[in-house]
Parts: sequence; C-alpha cells; structure tokens
Amino acid sequence: MLELVWPGKQLSAAKAVHGDISQPASWNPALAESALRGDFSAESGSAKKTHRLLAADNLDALRWMRSCEQKYDIIYIDPPYNTGSVLTYNDKSSQRGSFSSAAWLDQIYPRMILARELLHETGVLFVSIDDNEACHLMTLLREVFGHENHLGTIKWRRKRKPSFLDKHLSATLEYVLVFAKNSKLCPRLLGSMTEEMTRPVLNASNKAVERVIPAGLPAYCAPGEYAAGEYKNRSLTFTLLDPLIVADGAVLKDARVIGQFRIAQELWAVTGYVTKNLGLRRRIMESERKRRHAEDDGTHWPTNEDAQEELKQIFGERVFDFPKPVGLLREILAMVPQVDTTRPLECLDFYAGSGSFLIASLEQTRADGIERRVDLVQSREKTRSSGTHQFTDIAEICAHRVTVDSRRRGFSPNFSFLQL
Ligand SMILES: C[S@@+](CC[C@H](N)C(=O)[O-])C[C@H]1O[C@@H](n2cnc3c(N)ncnc32)[C@H](O)[C@@H]1O
Repeated sequence: MLELVWPGKQLSAAKAVHGDISQPASWNPALAESALRGDFSAESGSAKKTHRLLAADNLDALRWMRSCEQKYDIIYIDPPYNTGSVLTYNDKSSQRGSFSSAAWLDQIYPRMILARELLHETGVLFVSIDDNEACHLMTLLREVFGHENHLGTIKWRRKRKPSFLDKHLSATLEYVLVFAKNSKLCPRLLGSMTEEMTRPVLNASNKAVERVIPAGLPAYCAPGEYAAGEYKNRSLTFTLLDPLIVADGAVLKDARVIGQFRIAQELWAVTGYVTKNLGLRRRIMESERKRRHAEDDGTHWPTNEDAQEELKQIFGERVFDFPKPVGLLREILAMVPQVDTTRPLECLDFYAGSGSFLIASLEQTRADGIERRVDLVQSREKTRSSGTHQFTDIAEICAHRVTVDSRRRGFSPNFSFLQL
C-alpha cells in the first residue's frame, strides 16, 4: 500500500484519539441577539429533526459527536485549500508555520480519521479541494478510507471565465473527492433529476369527467371567488360546477369541476394545484422522476460567482470570501439515496463557512421530498472582510445566513445554536 509520510504524522493522528468532549452549551443568546440584531433565535435541546449549528473548532466538535455515537449518511466538507489565502486553521496545537503542506496535513489528517468513524457503514464523504493539495489529500484519503472506497472525483467549474492574472495555466476547475466508508455497502449514487417538475392534468384526447378541487389544494392565482362556469387556459377548457374560493394561497372549499382529466382524483388531490392564471396542473411525484446514474462531470453546475451573488442578496455586501453555491451542494446531496426510510438522512458539514450546505439541504428536500437533518460546525474565526456589517466572527455570519435565508426561501426549520 502507498503511504503518505510527513514529519509529525503520528502526532497528528493522535489528535483523533484524544478524549471525548462533553455536551456543548446553548449559544449565549444575549451575545447572539446583539450580534445578529435580533434576527436570531437560540434554542437548546436536540429534538429529532432539529438542525444544529455548532460554533467550535471542528476537531473538538467531531470528538463530541463521536462521544454521542452520532452517525452520518453524508459528510460534505470544504476545508481551506492551503492557498496562502486569508482563511487559516483554528487549531492552537499546530506547531508549524502556516501554509506548508505538512502543516495542512497535520490539520486535515485527524479530522479525516474522525470523519470516517462518524459515517454510517453505507455513508459517503465528499471533499472539495483544488490543485494545491488535491494530490496529497487523495493519497491520504485512500490511506484512511482504503483505495477500494474511492468512488470517484467530480470535476467542478468554479468560474465561467479564466483569469488573465494566472501566470501559466488559468485554474477554472476544482474537485470533489468522493469516498465511501464501505463501497460494497454504499448505494449507487444518483445523477440529477429530470428537469420536468410539473405536468398538465388536462388532455384534449381524454373524456370529460368530474373531479373535485379539494379544500387546501395550493392555488397561486389571485385570492377571491371565481364564479361557476367555463374557463379556458391555453387551449383547454374546464367547467367549474361550484364557485372556486381562494384565500392565503389555497382553495378554501371543495369545488366540483368538469374537464378532460388525464389523472385520477387521488393523484390530483395530492399533487394538483391551481396556477397563477387559473389553470390546473400538478407536481411530479418523486417516484415518477427519472434519475440518471451519477456522473463525475460538474462543469455545468453553478459557480463561485453564483455563490457570491446568493450571499449578496442576504447581506447586501461581501461578508465572506469563499462560499460554495447552493446548486453545487444540492447536486451532491441529491446523489445519496435514502437507504433507511424510517429516519431522515443525517448530513454534516464541519467547515460550514456561510452555511450554504444547510440551505442546499432544505432546497433539495423541497425538490425530492427526502427528509434530511443537518449539523454544521463553524469556528469563531474572526471576519476579515471590511464593510458596514457588524459580524465579528464567521459563526455569526453562518447563523445569520441560515436563519434569514431559510425564511426568505419560505422554510421554517428548527435550529439549535450550540457552542463548545
Ligand atoms: C472554504 S470555507 C467553507 C465555505 C462553505 N462551504 C460555504 O459555502 O460557505 C472554510 C470554512 O472553514 C472554517 N474553518 C477552518 N478551520 C476550522 C476549524 N478548525 N474548525 C471549524 N471551522 C473551521 C473557516 O472559518 C471557513 O469558514
């Protein structure tokens, strides 16, 4: 077996076996309240479907998770790439100068050992990395996980246009290394869904039948009462036998309708909706959508430029330098099927940054109906970017982003904010 050797490797591995950590405390609500201008709720406890943000060094956090016997189906991480950039490691025990490959490996090695321990036997690890440390990381992960558990490497286009400042080769691609805890037990990874999300429910060649537009069905048309009678949408007509009353985005009372329906009442009642311009349509069920085999080509996915745009919409200015786009993380989350349908998929990102992973998980669950519970870990690294914002550390930025962005997108998930 090929082994990666650097001075201090043994010492670094020993950090993974250090004693377990006791229970974290609830994040000081007073501090959070003022830091986040009241747009923040601190909850303690860990109800089953509560997502958690842990403000801590991830080495401590991983040891705490091990002590709770927590296991994950998906671990995604986006560690600092050792580019000599502003992001540093928050690990006081490092003895070396920053930015050497050996110092970087000292940090990553114990965390990879713990990440493997925390995976379910069917679980998968995804690691974002660029050319600076990709070769070292690949060798190290093959050593920690076993060569046979390297499922592949996704190539992702991080920016659309090459930079003219790059001296020799302009770097537009980076990688996501994919490792299974046990490739024999890991389910087949799935590619993106078909684009089709909705379908018409009326079809000119079907016989006209009576259906009920049930109370509670989503309705995106203007609120109000639509009188009984004939309605035309695109080239198809339907006839309301009862008035259709719409309030707060839903149908208020059952209304009978006659139309050339192509689906049964049962399917219509669960997937149907009234469109903005008073048409009748339905959502595609998860089981009807075609999934391709996962591919290692991510060159058409959203880019870093998209990620900065996403953050700008929340903060109005550049508060954080290296976010990943929600779309990239959704593609990754969508790859791992739910093996055990009696519980949510357990997901972890222990280099959380701005918290894009949690937002991606909420969006992906809305799209595929698979329930996910997410843990994020972010250290209290000081913010570097100047501007008018009042955030003093990245954990605060993360807390603010997940709170505000999830509401903005129409989610109301439960969060616990904890610190070690
Ligand atoms: C490249 S960023 C991750 C960006 C994230 N994927 C996003 O979309 O916003 C890496 C993050 O890891 C954090 N970090 C670095 N060392 C850490 C440590 N030892 N424990 C916890 N967080 C750490 C940094 O503060 C930074 O926010």
